[in-house]
Amino acid sequence: MIALGCDHGGYKLMVAIKKDLDDKGIAYKDFGTDSEASVDYPVYAYKVAKAVTEGGCELGILCCGTGIGISMAANKIKGVRAAVVNNEFGAEMTRRHNHANILCMGGRVISEEQAVKFTDIFLNTPEEGDRHDKRVAMITAIENGTFEAD
Ligand code: RB5
Repeated sequence: MIALGCDHGGYKLMVAIKKDLDDKGIAYKDFGTDSEASVDYPVYAYKVAKAVTEGGCELGILCCGTGIGISMAANKIKGVRAAVVNNEFGAEMTRRHNHANILCMGGRVISEEQAVKFTDIFLNTPEEGDRHDKRVAMITAIENGTFEAD
């Protein structure tokens, strides 16, 4: 199950992403917003972040005007690794190397076609282990206050 959320700045991207997921038969939970009326992006970041960390959703997608504000808010929730992505390479590498669990994109930065493509890459790229496991564990240690830099 994929958790989806956006503000007004990301609404058009999310409409395109939902259509593509529907076409592919991929299940999602839609946490809104549901129009281009102005809303506050932290609300949607919080709902999707909680769905991913506690609500049984494996991955999340968040869109706002830039992808930045909504990623900042999501990253405040323990266990979230939200990444702003503006190109195909980033969509792949943030899954492979950073084990990102939420993809963030900006409706004032990329096209709907790009958002659909980056989402497809993100959802279909596996996490790589070995040195990347170790580095992601270090991120988690920083989050938990147990990290010790040498
Ligand atoms: C809303 O105008 C805009 O600030 C928001 O969508 C996002 O870009 C924030 O980072």
